[in-house]
Amino acid sequence: MARVTRRRFADGELYVKVEEGIDGAIIVGNTYPDGGIIDILLTRDASWNAGARKLILIVPYFGYARQDSMFQNYEAVSARVISEILVERFDRIFVVNMHSPEGVAFLGSKGKEIRAEPLIGRKVKEDGNELVVSPDDGFQEEAARIASVAGLESIAMNKKRVSDTKVEISLPQGASVDGKVVALTDDLISTGGTILESSKILKEHGARRINVYCVHGLFVTGTSKYAGFVDSITTTDTVEGPFSGISVASLVSSEVAPFIT
Ligand code: R5P
Repeated sequence: MARVTRRRFADGELYVKVEEGIDGAIIVGNTYPDGGIIDILLTRDASWNAGARKLILIVPYFGYARQDSMFQNYEAVSARVISEILVERFDRIFVVNMHSPEGVAFLGSKGKEIRAEPLIGRKVKEDGNELVVSPDDGFQEEAARIASVAGLESIAMNKKRVSDTKVEISLPQGASVDGKVVALTDDLISTGGTILESSKILKEHGARRINVYCVHGLFVTGTSKYAGFVDSITTTDTVEGPFSGISVASLVSSEVAPFIT
């Protein structure tokens, strides 16, 4: 690890200085919350000024990836904007489970996505789950991959997003969760609306236990509201928090290692 000084100016602006000469840099930083973007950019500049001519960026959680197209006229396409800024400044960008293939495409040939499903699948198996469920078809393929690692079946619920904070979820016809230990899986928990609503429906249909697994746990409105609705929550450590029971560190280092010469 290179020695880096970070401090705040009186007005809160960030100051970054690399304290030694370096040939190259691997910078690890999330583009969430917003300050992470400034930190990545200043650390990249300080690294360049310290002599680094090969610059690799690892973004465990790529914030702004969900706005990956114009869902309504004249909206900013955040995933493209942030990607362009990074692509211009780094030789290679690694991201863990970006929200969509469209987002990964914005990173072009410099981007590489690292997928955490095998790690989650192993944990799902270890925890004795009996069925893998995704709250919507957006995570259906990933849930199927998790299920195949765990040696289980998977189903996808139907989700309709009503607003930023409200979703309507239903179980597909013919699906049965009665008496089962269910692994409810998603890429992201933000407000928790999706997970809580899904859990409610699964419980109503007789699920015996609901274990939640997600890649990125933001928990923007805190974690207390999950008690009583779900039996356990496990996230990876792409965003470190109280439920980060799965580390992506070894997976990420094994993916990045071949690119270091
Ligand atoms: C949506 O497409 C994502 O996969 C997540 O289901 C969603 O972003 C979770 O958000 P929230 O926790 O606010 O419902």
